[in-house]
Amino acid sequence: MNFEENPVRDRLVEMFAKASGPVSGEEMSHTLGLSRTAIWKQIKSLEQVGFVFAASPRVGYRAVTIPDELMAPLVDPHLPLAVAFGRPLFWAAERASTNATALDWAAKGLPHGAVVTAAVQTGGKGRRERSWVSPQGGMWFSVLIRQPCALNQAPDLTLLASLAVRRALAEIGVPADIKWPNDILVAGKKVCGILAQMRADGEWVDHAVIGIGINANFPEERLPADIRHRATTIFSACGFAIERPRVLATILTELDKLYRLLASGEGFASVRGEWLAHCETMGRSVEVAVGNEIVRGTAIDVDDQGSLLVKLAHGDVRRLHSGEVLFSESEHLR
Ligand code: BTN
Repeated sequence: MNFEENPVRDRLVEMFAKASGPVSGEEMSHTLGLSRTAIWKQIKSLEQVGFVFAASPRVGYRAVTIPDELMAPLVDPHLPLAVAFGRPLFWAAERASTNATALDWAAKGLPHGAVVTAAVQTGGKGRRERSWVSPQGGMWFSVLIRQPCALNQAPDLTLLASLAVRRALAEIGVPADIKWPNDILVAGKKVCGILAQMRADGEWVDHAVIGIGINANFPEERLPADIRHRATTIFSACGFAIERPRVLATILTELDKLYRLLASGEGFASVRGEWLAHCETMGRSVEVAVGNEIVRGTAIDVDDQGSLLVKLAHGDVRRLHSGEVLFSESEHLR
C-alpha cells in the first residue's frame, strides 16, 4: 500500500527548501511532471498551511516563509542517515489522531520506524481515555516500532521515549524534567505526554505506536482553562519558539540510540541513572492513581523495570508498575 497522501507536495517543499533563489514554473513542471495549473494549485494549498511565496513574472516563485511544520523535507536534513526512525515520515495539515492513523496503517504494512505527524489533531488521545488538545504550533507525532519485544519490556518503550524527549529539549536549552512514568515538565508544569498503544501476540509485543505530544510553539492560553494550573507550553514557559523539525529529528535520533539498547537486551536499566537524575518525582509526596485505587506516600525510587517505589505512611513500600501521579508535591511548591 502507498501511504503517501501528497508526494508532489513534499517534493515541491523540498525544491523550495533547497533553492537559494526563485524556482521557475518550468523547472517545477519539468521536475514534478505536472502542468503549470497543477503546480499553481499546489502552491495555493501550501499557502494555506503557512508558506508565503513571492511571485515574479517570468522568473518564478521564491519561498519567503517556510513554516516549521513536521514535514519530511524539513525534518530529513537534520536526521543522520543511520537513524532508523523518521523515514518515511507522513505529514498532514489535520488528522483526528496521529496514533490512530499509525495504528491503522500498521495493520496495512507501514514499515518499522515510520513517523506520522499532523499540524493539528482534531481527536488527539491522551492516557486514561482522555482527549489531548492539539492546536497549531505543537508537535504531534507517532512512531511505529515493529521490533518485537517481550510484553514485560513494554514499559521501557515509553520510559526511554521520555528520556529521548528530555535529551532533545535539554540540547536546545529547555530545562525539562521527567515525571514518572513519562510526562515531561518545564517549570513544574506538563509540556509533553506520551501514549503507547500496542498490539500484543501472546507474551510478545508485535508492534507498538509511540505517540508523543509536545506543547511547543503556542501560548498556554490555548490550552483548556481547567488544565492550565498543571500544563503549559514551551513558548509560555521559556519565552521562545523552538525549531520543530530540528527538535523532531533530535528526538528520533535519541530514540534510535535508546531503542537499540532494547534490541541488544539491555533496556531501561542501563540508563536508569540518567533518567533518575532528571526525574522530579523522587523524594516527593505523591498521590498515584493505579486503576481505581489512589496510593499515597513518598516516591523513593524507580527500579530497573521502571516501577515506582512508594513508601507508605506506615513504612511499607509499594512497587507500582503503572499508574499516574495525580499529585506531586513539587508541582505545588513552584
Ligand atoms: C498523555 O495523556 O499524557 C499522553 C498524550 C499523548 C498525546 C500524543 S499527540 C500525538 C499522539 N496522537 C495522539 O492522539 N496522542 C499522542
